[in-house]
Amino acid sequence: MNMPNLKEAKIRGKSKVRIIKDAYKVKEELKNIGKDKKYFIKTYGCQMNEHDSENIKAILEDMSYKETEDMEKADIILLNTCAIRENAHNKVFGMIGRIKHLKEQKSHIIAGICGCMAQEEGIATELKNKYKHIDLVFGTHNFHTLPELIEKNQKEKERQIEVFSKEGDVLENIPVKRDSKYKAFVNIMLGCDKFCTYCIVPYTRGKQRSRKKEDILKEIEELIKKGYKEVTLLGQNVNAYGKDLEEDYNMANLLEEVAKTKIPRIRFVTSHPWDFTEEMIDKIAKYENIMPYIHLPLQSGSNRILKLMGRRYTKEEYLTLYHKLKEKIPSCAITTDIIVAFPGETEEDFKETLEVVDACKYDGAYTFIFSKREGTPASKMEESLKEEEKRERLHRLNEKINDYSNKANQKYKGKTVKVLLEKVSEKDPSMLSGYTETNKLVNVKSAKENLGKIVSVKITNIKTWSMDGEII
Ligand code: 5AD
Ligand code: SF4
Repeated sequence: MNMPNLKEAKIRGKSKVRIIKDAYKVKEELKNIGKDKKYFIKTYGCQMNEHDSENIKAILEDMSYKETEDMEKADIILLNTCAIRENAHNKVFGMIGRIKHLKEQKSHIIAGICGCMAQEEGIATELKNKYKHIDLVFGTHNFHTLPELIEKNQKEKERQIEVFSKEGDVLENIPVKRDSKYKAFVNIMLGCDKFCTYCIVPYTRGKQRSRKKEDILKEIEELIKKGYKEVTLLGQNVNAYGKDLEEDYNMANLLEEVAKTKIPRIRFVTSHPWDFTEEMIDKIAKYENIMPYIHLPLQSGSNRILKLMGRRYTKEEYLTLYHKLKEKIPSCAITTDIIVAFPGETEEDFKETLEVVDACKYDGAYTFIFSKREGTPASKMEESLKEEEKRERLHRLNEKINDYSNKANQKYKGKTVKVLLEKVSEKDPSMLSGYTETNKLVNVKSAKENLGKIVSVKITNIKTWSMDGEII
């Protein structure tokens, strides 16, 4: 057994990142252990987690398990969890209760919890002591060892709790079963060293480590050969890409080389304003296949709160960056993340956030009430607001955000945009959906043959969360 440890999770040493190319292996005798059996995996949280689940699916299929979307039919159930806010926890514990019920009827089911929650010391201890029907607990650093964990659990009839709090390696050649045939996530860096005071990610995902550009480009070339039209370059803080590499190579260089592969669409998330260089902006403006869509988390519009959050920029610096982006990439859509009710946030601070929203008129935003994460510096800061007051601030912010998002969408009416058609509508099979270059969801009437194609669409109708259009 290996339990996570908060103190170890904080460590950032000077040792070189190991790039391990052969960490993943499935023993011959395990290749059939899932024959005629099914797995169910539920993913919570960010795109990084979704991508980890794509890896986990491929690993399970290497052992001959088949996927089911019905948890009741599964022989192995995995919850790939998120630790970013308290409400993510509550959902997972609800599911753990349902799994207990299922296991009372079918005791052979293997149930596992993985991902960021498993990396939390308090949660792993709770799972170990109180939730004995959970057979596997493993974290973000070792999901590639799943075959061995399953084998041990079956042979030794013992729960396997294996979570490591470490800075982490870069593992290459982990198999992947991608959810889409047209767009793909590509990790470019793992972990985070920013340690914003509210955020648990640097503890659950280890230190910032960039993949080598050769490995990234090879993966993208292979995707192009398979017919993929879009890649999303993933990282907690992609703009810091390369800072930990020996060679002098940064995100702007990577964007340029990826653009030159000629893949039709390139996106990247998430950007931290601190590391967003002028050079990057120039590359985005220069290459047509780098999408004019940027997610630029603000978090707060008050300099006092930004400082308490450890964000390393001021409101003024953020606005300068924002205007530079809009000036050099005029068609660019910008979305953001905002946290309200950070400890000590006064009405004045909150109003400053609203003012920045007024200045930026975002295309959209993810908004959150501050959630105390055990072990982070902000969890020790004093909170004074009542729940009702926090909700009221969130509500006021959301009204403004929705208003601007609506106005931004209205501008599309009658315009012609390019859409990568990627899905058949569940409600109406004659409809396909996809995203514009600026990441707006569009529905069109179209034959299925157009799936995977980038088509020109005239926007006819604007709805709250999507738009309708006609292929021209
Ligand atoms: N409480 C509320 N929101 C948080 N986020 C990260 N940590 C917390 C927290 N403790 C938000 C930030 C981040 C997004 C992914 O989640 O806005 O950008
Ligand atoms: Fe968390 Fe800040 Fe790192 Fe983003 S940059 S993952 S908010 S610590």
